[in-house]
Amino acid sequence: MPVSEDVLLGFETSDDAAVFRLRDDLAAVLTVDFFTPVVDDPYEFGCIAAANALSDVFAMGATPLVALNILAVSCSLGTEIVSEIIRGGSDKVREAGAFIVGGHSIDDDEPKYGMAVFGTVDPEKIIRNKGALPGDLIFYTKVIGTGIMSAARKIDFETDESMRPVIDFMKELNDKGAQAMIAAHAHAATDVTGFGLVGHLHEMLEASDVSAYIKWDDVPLFDGVFEHSSAFCRPGKTFDIIDWASNFVEQGNLDDEEYNNRMGVLCDPQTSGGLLVCVSPEDAEVFIRKFEELAGRKPALIGKVIAGKPGSISLV
Ligand code: CO
Ligand code: CO
Repeated sequence: MPVSEDVLLGFETSDDAAVFRLRDDLAAVLTVDFFTPVVDDPYEFGCIAAANALSDVFAMGATPLVALNILAVSCSLGTEIVSEIIRGGSDKVREAGAFIVGGHSIDDDEPKYGMAVFGTVDPEKIIRNKGALPGDLIFYTKVIGTGIMSAARKIDFETDESMRPVIDFMKELNDKGAQAMIAAHAHAATDVTGFGLVGHLHEMLEASDVSAYIKWDDVPLFDGVFEHSSAFCRPGKTFDIIDWASNFVEQGNLDDEEYNNRMGVLCDPQTSGGLLVCVSPEDAEVFIRKFEELAGRKPALIGKVIAGKPGSISLV
């Protein structure tokens, strides 16, 4: 139950960030995220952690303004590594047009970094999880498989070289996708993170009382992702997500093996994933053009919203 009618979005929905009304035409958007290192390079880890934390603000169609660092490191890590992490974070925040204005650090054997981000939005223009309509086209703005690729790197199935595009995508801000979805008056959006592509799509569909289909062949994957998934080279968390997601992702006429291999990909937890955006067919061209103009590549059209059991997803 909201403590105040100015709490526009809080605990009760699975939206990406909390929203608090400051004035009729202005609301504060608040989010926090931090995690353990996902790459070896401390500077790049800082960039990824910041891009990931900022993403929940962009996913709401809001503008980030300031951020606070959250850092847990052991003294034995050395000041040089710590300052590289923070430099990465602050460079990303600056790229997003925002500023780091403080933070807090504690002593911890397992390093962790991230930030709390404050942004603003016109309450009338918030783009939520809820609002997708039958007929909307579903776009994804990055490439799926960061969890699988990181798992594969750990056992030397991938190299530093083959990980380059994966790291570059994780470092990329979702600001361009956000600008494109605002221009295209998107009906609903979220970013894809720890619950994988179908986990986050499900939340959006359920909140919108609709269902969807995904065109499997049109889901953009990093090279090797499907093969690694089929060889069960996946992050441990994926298996729990598949258990949950098999309740709403229909198997259709896929045999068990093919269904499970695809689910390994579709349930792969993403670090700093892209935006999942629902746009009316009339506005799709605006979204594609704007995103391409800003990002230098096209967003992937991966499926369509349809009327049906809220939250259910079929693969075609
Ligand atoms: Co999110
Ligand atoms: Co988050």
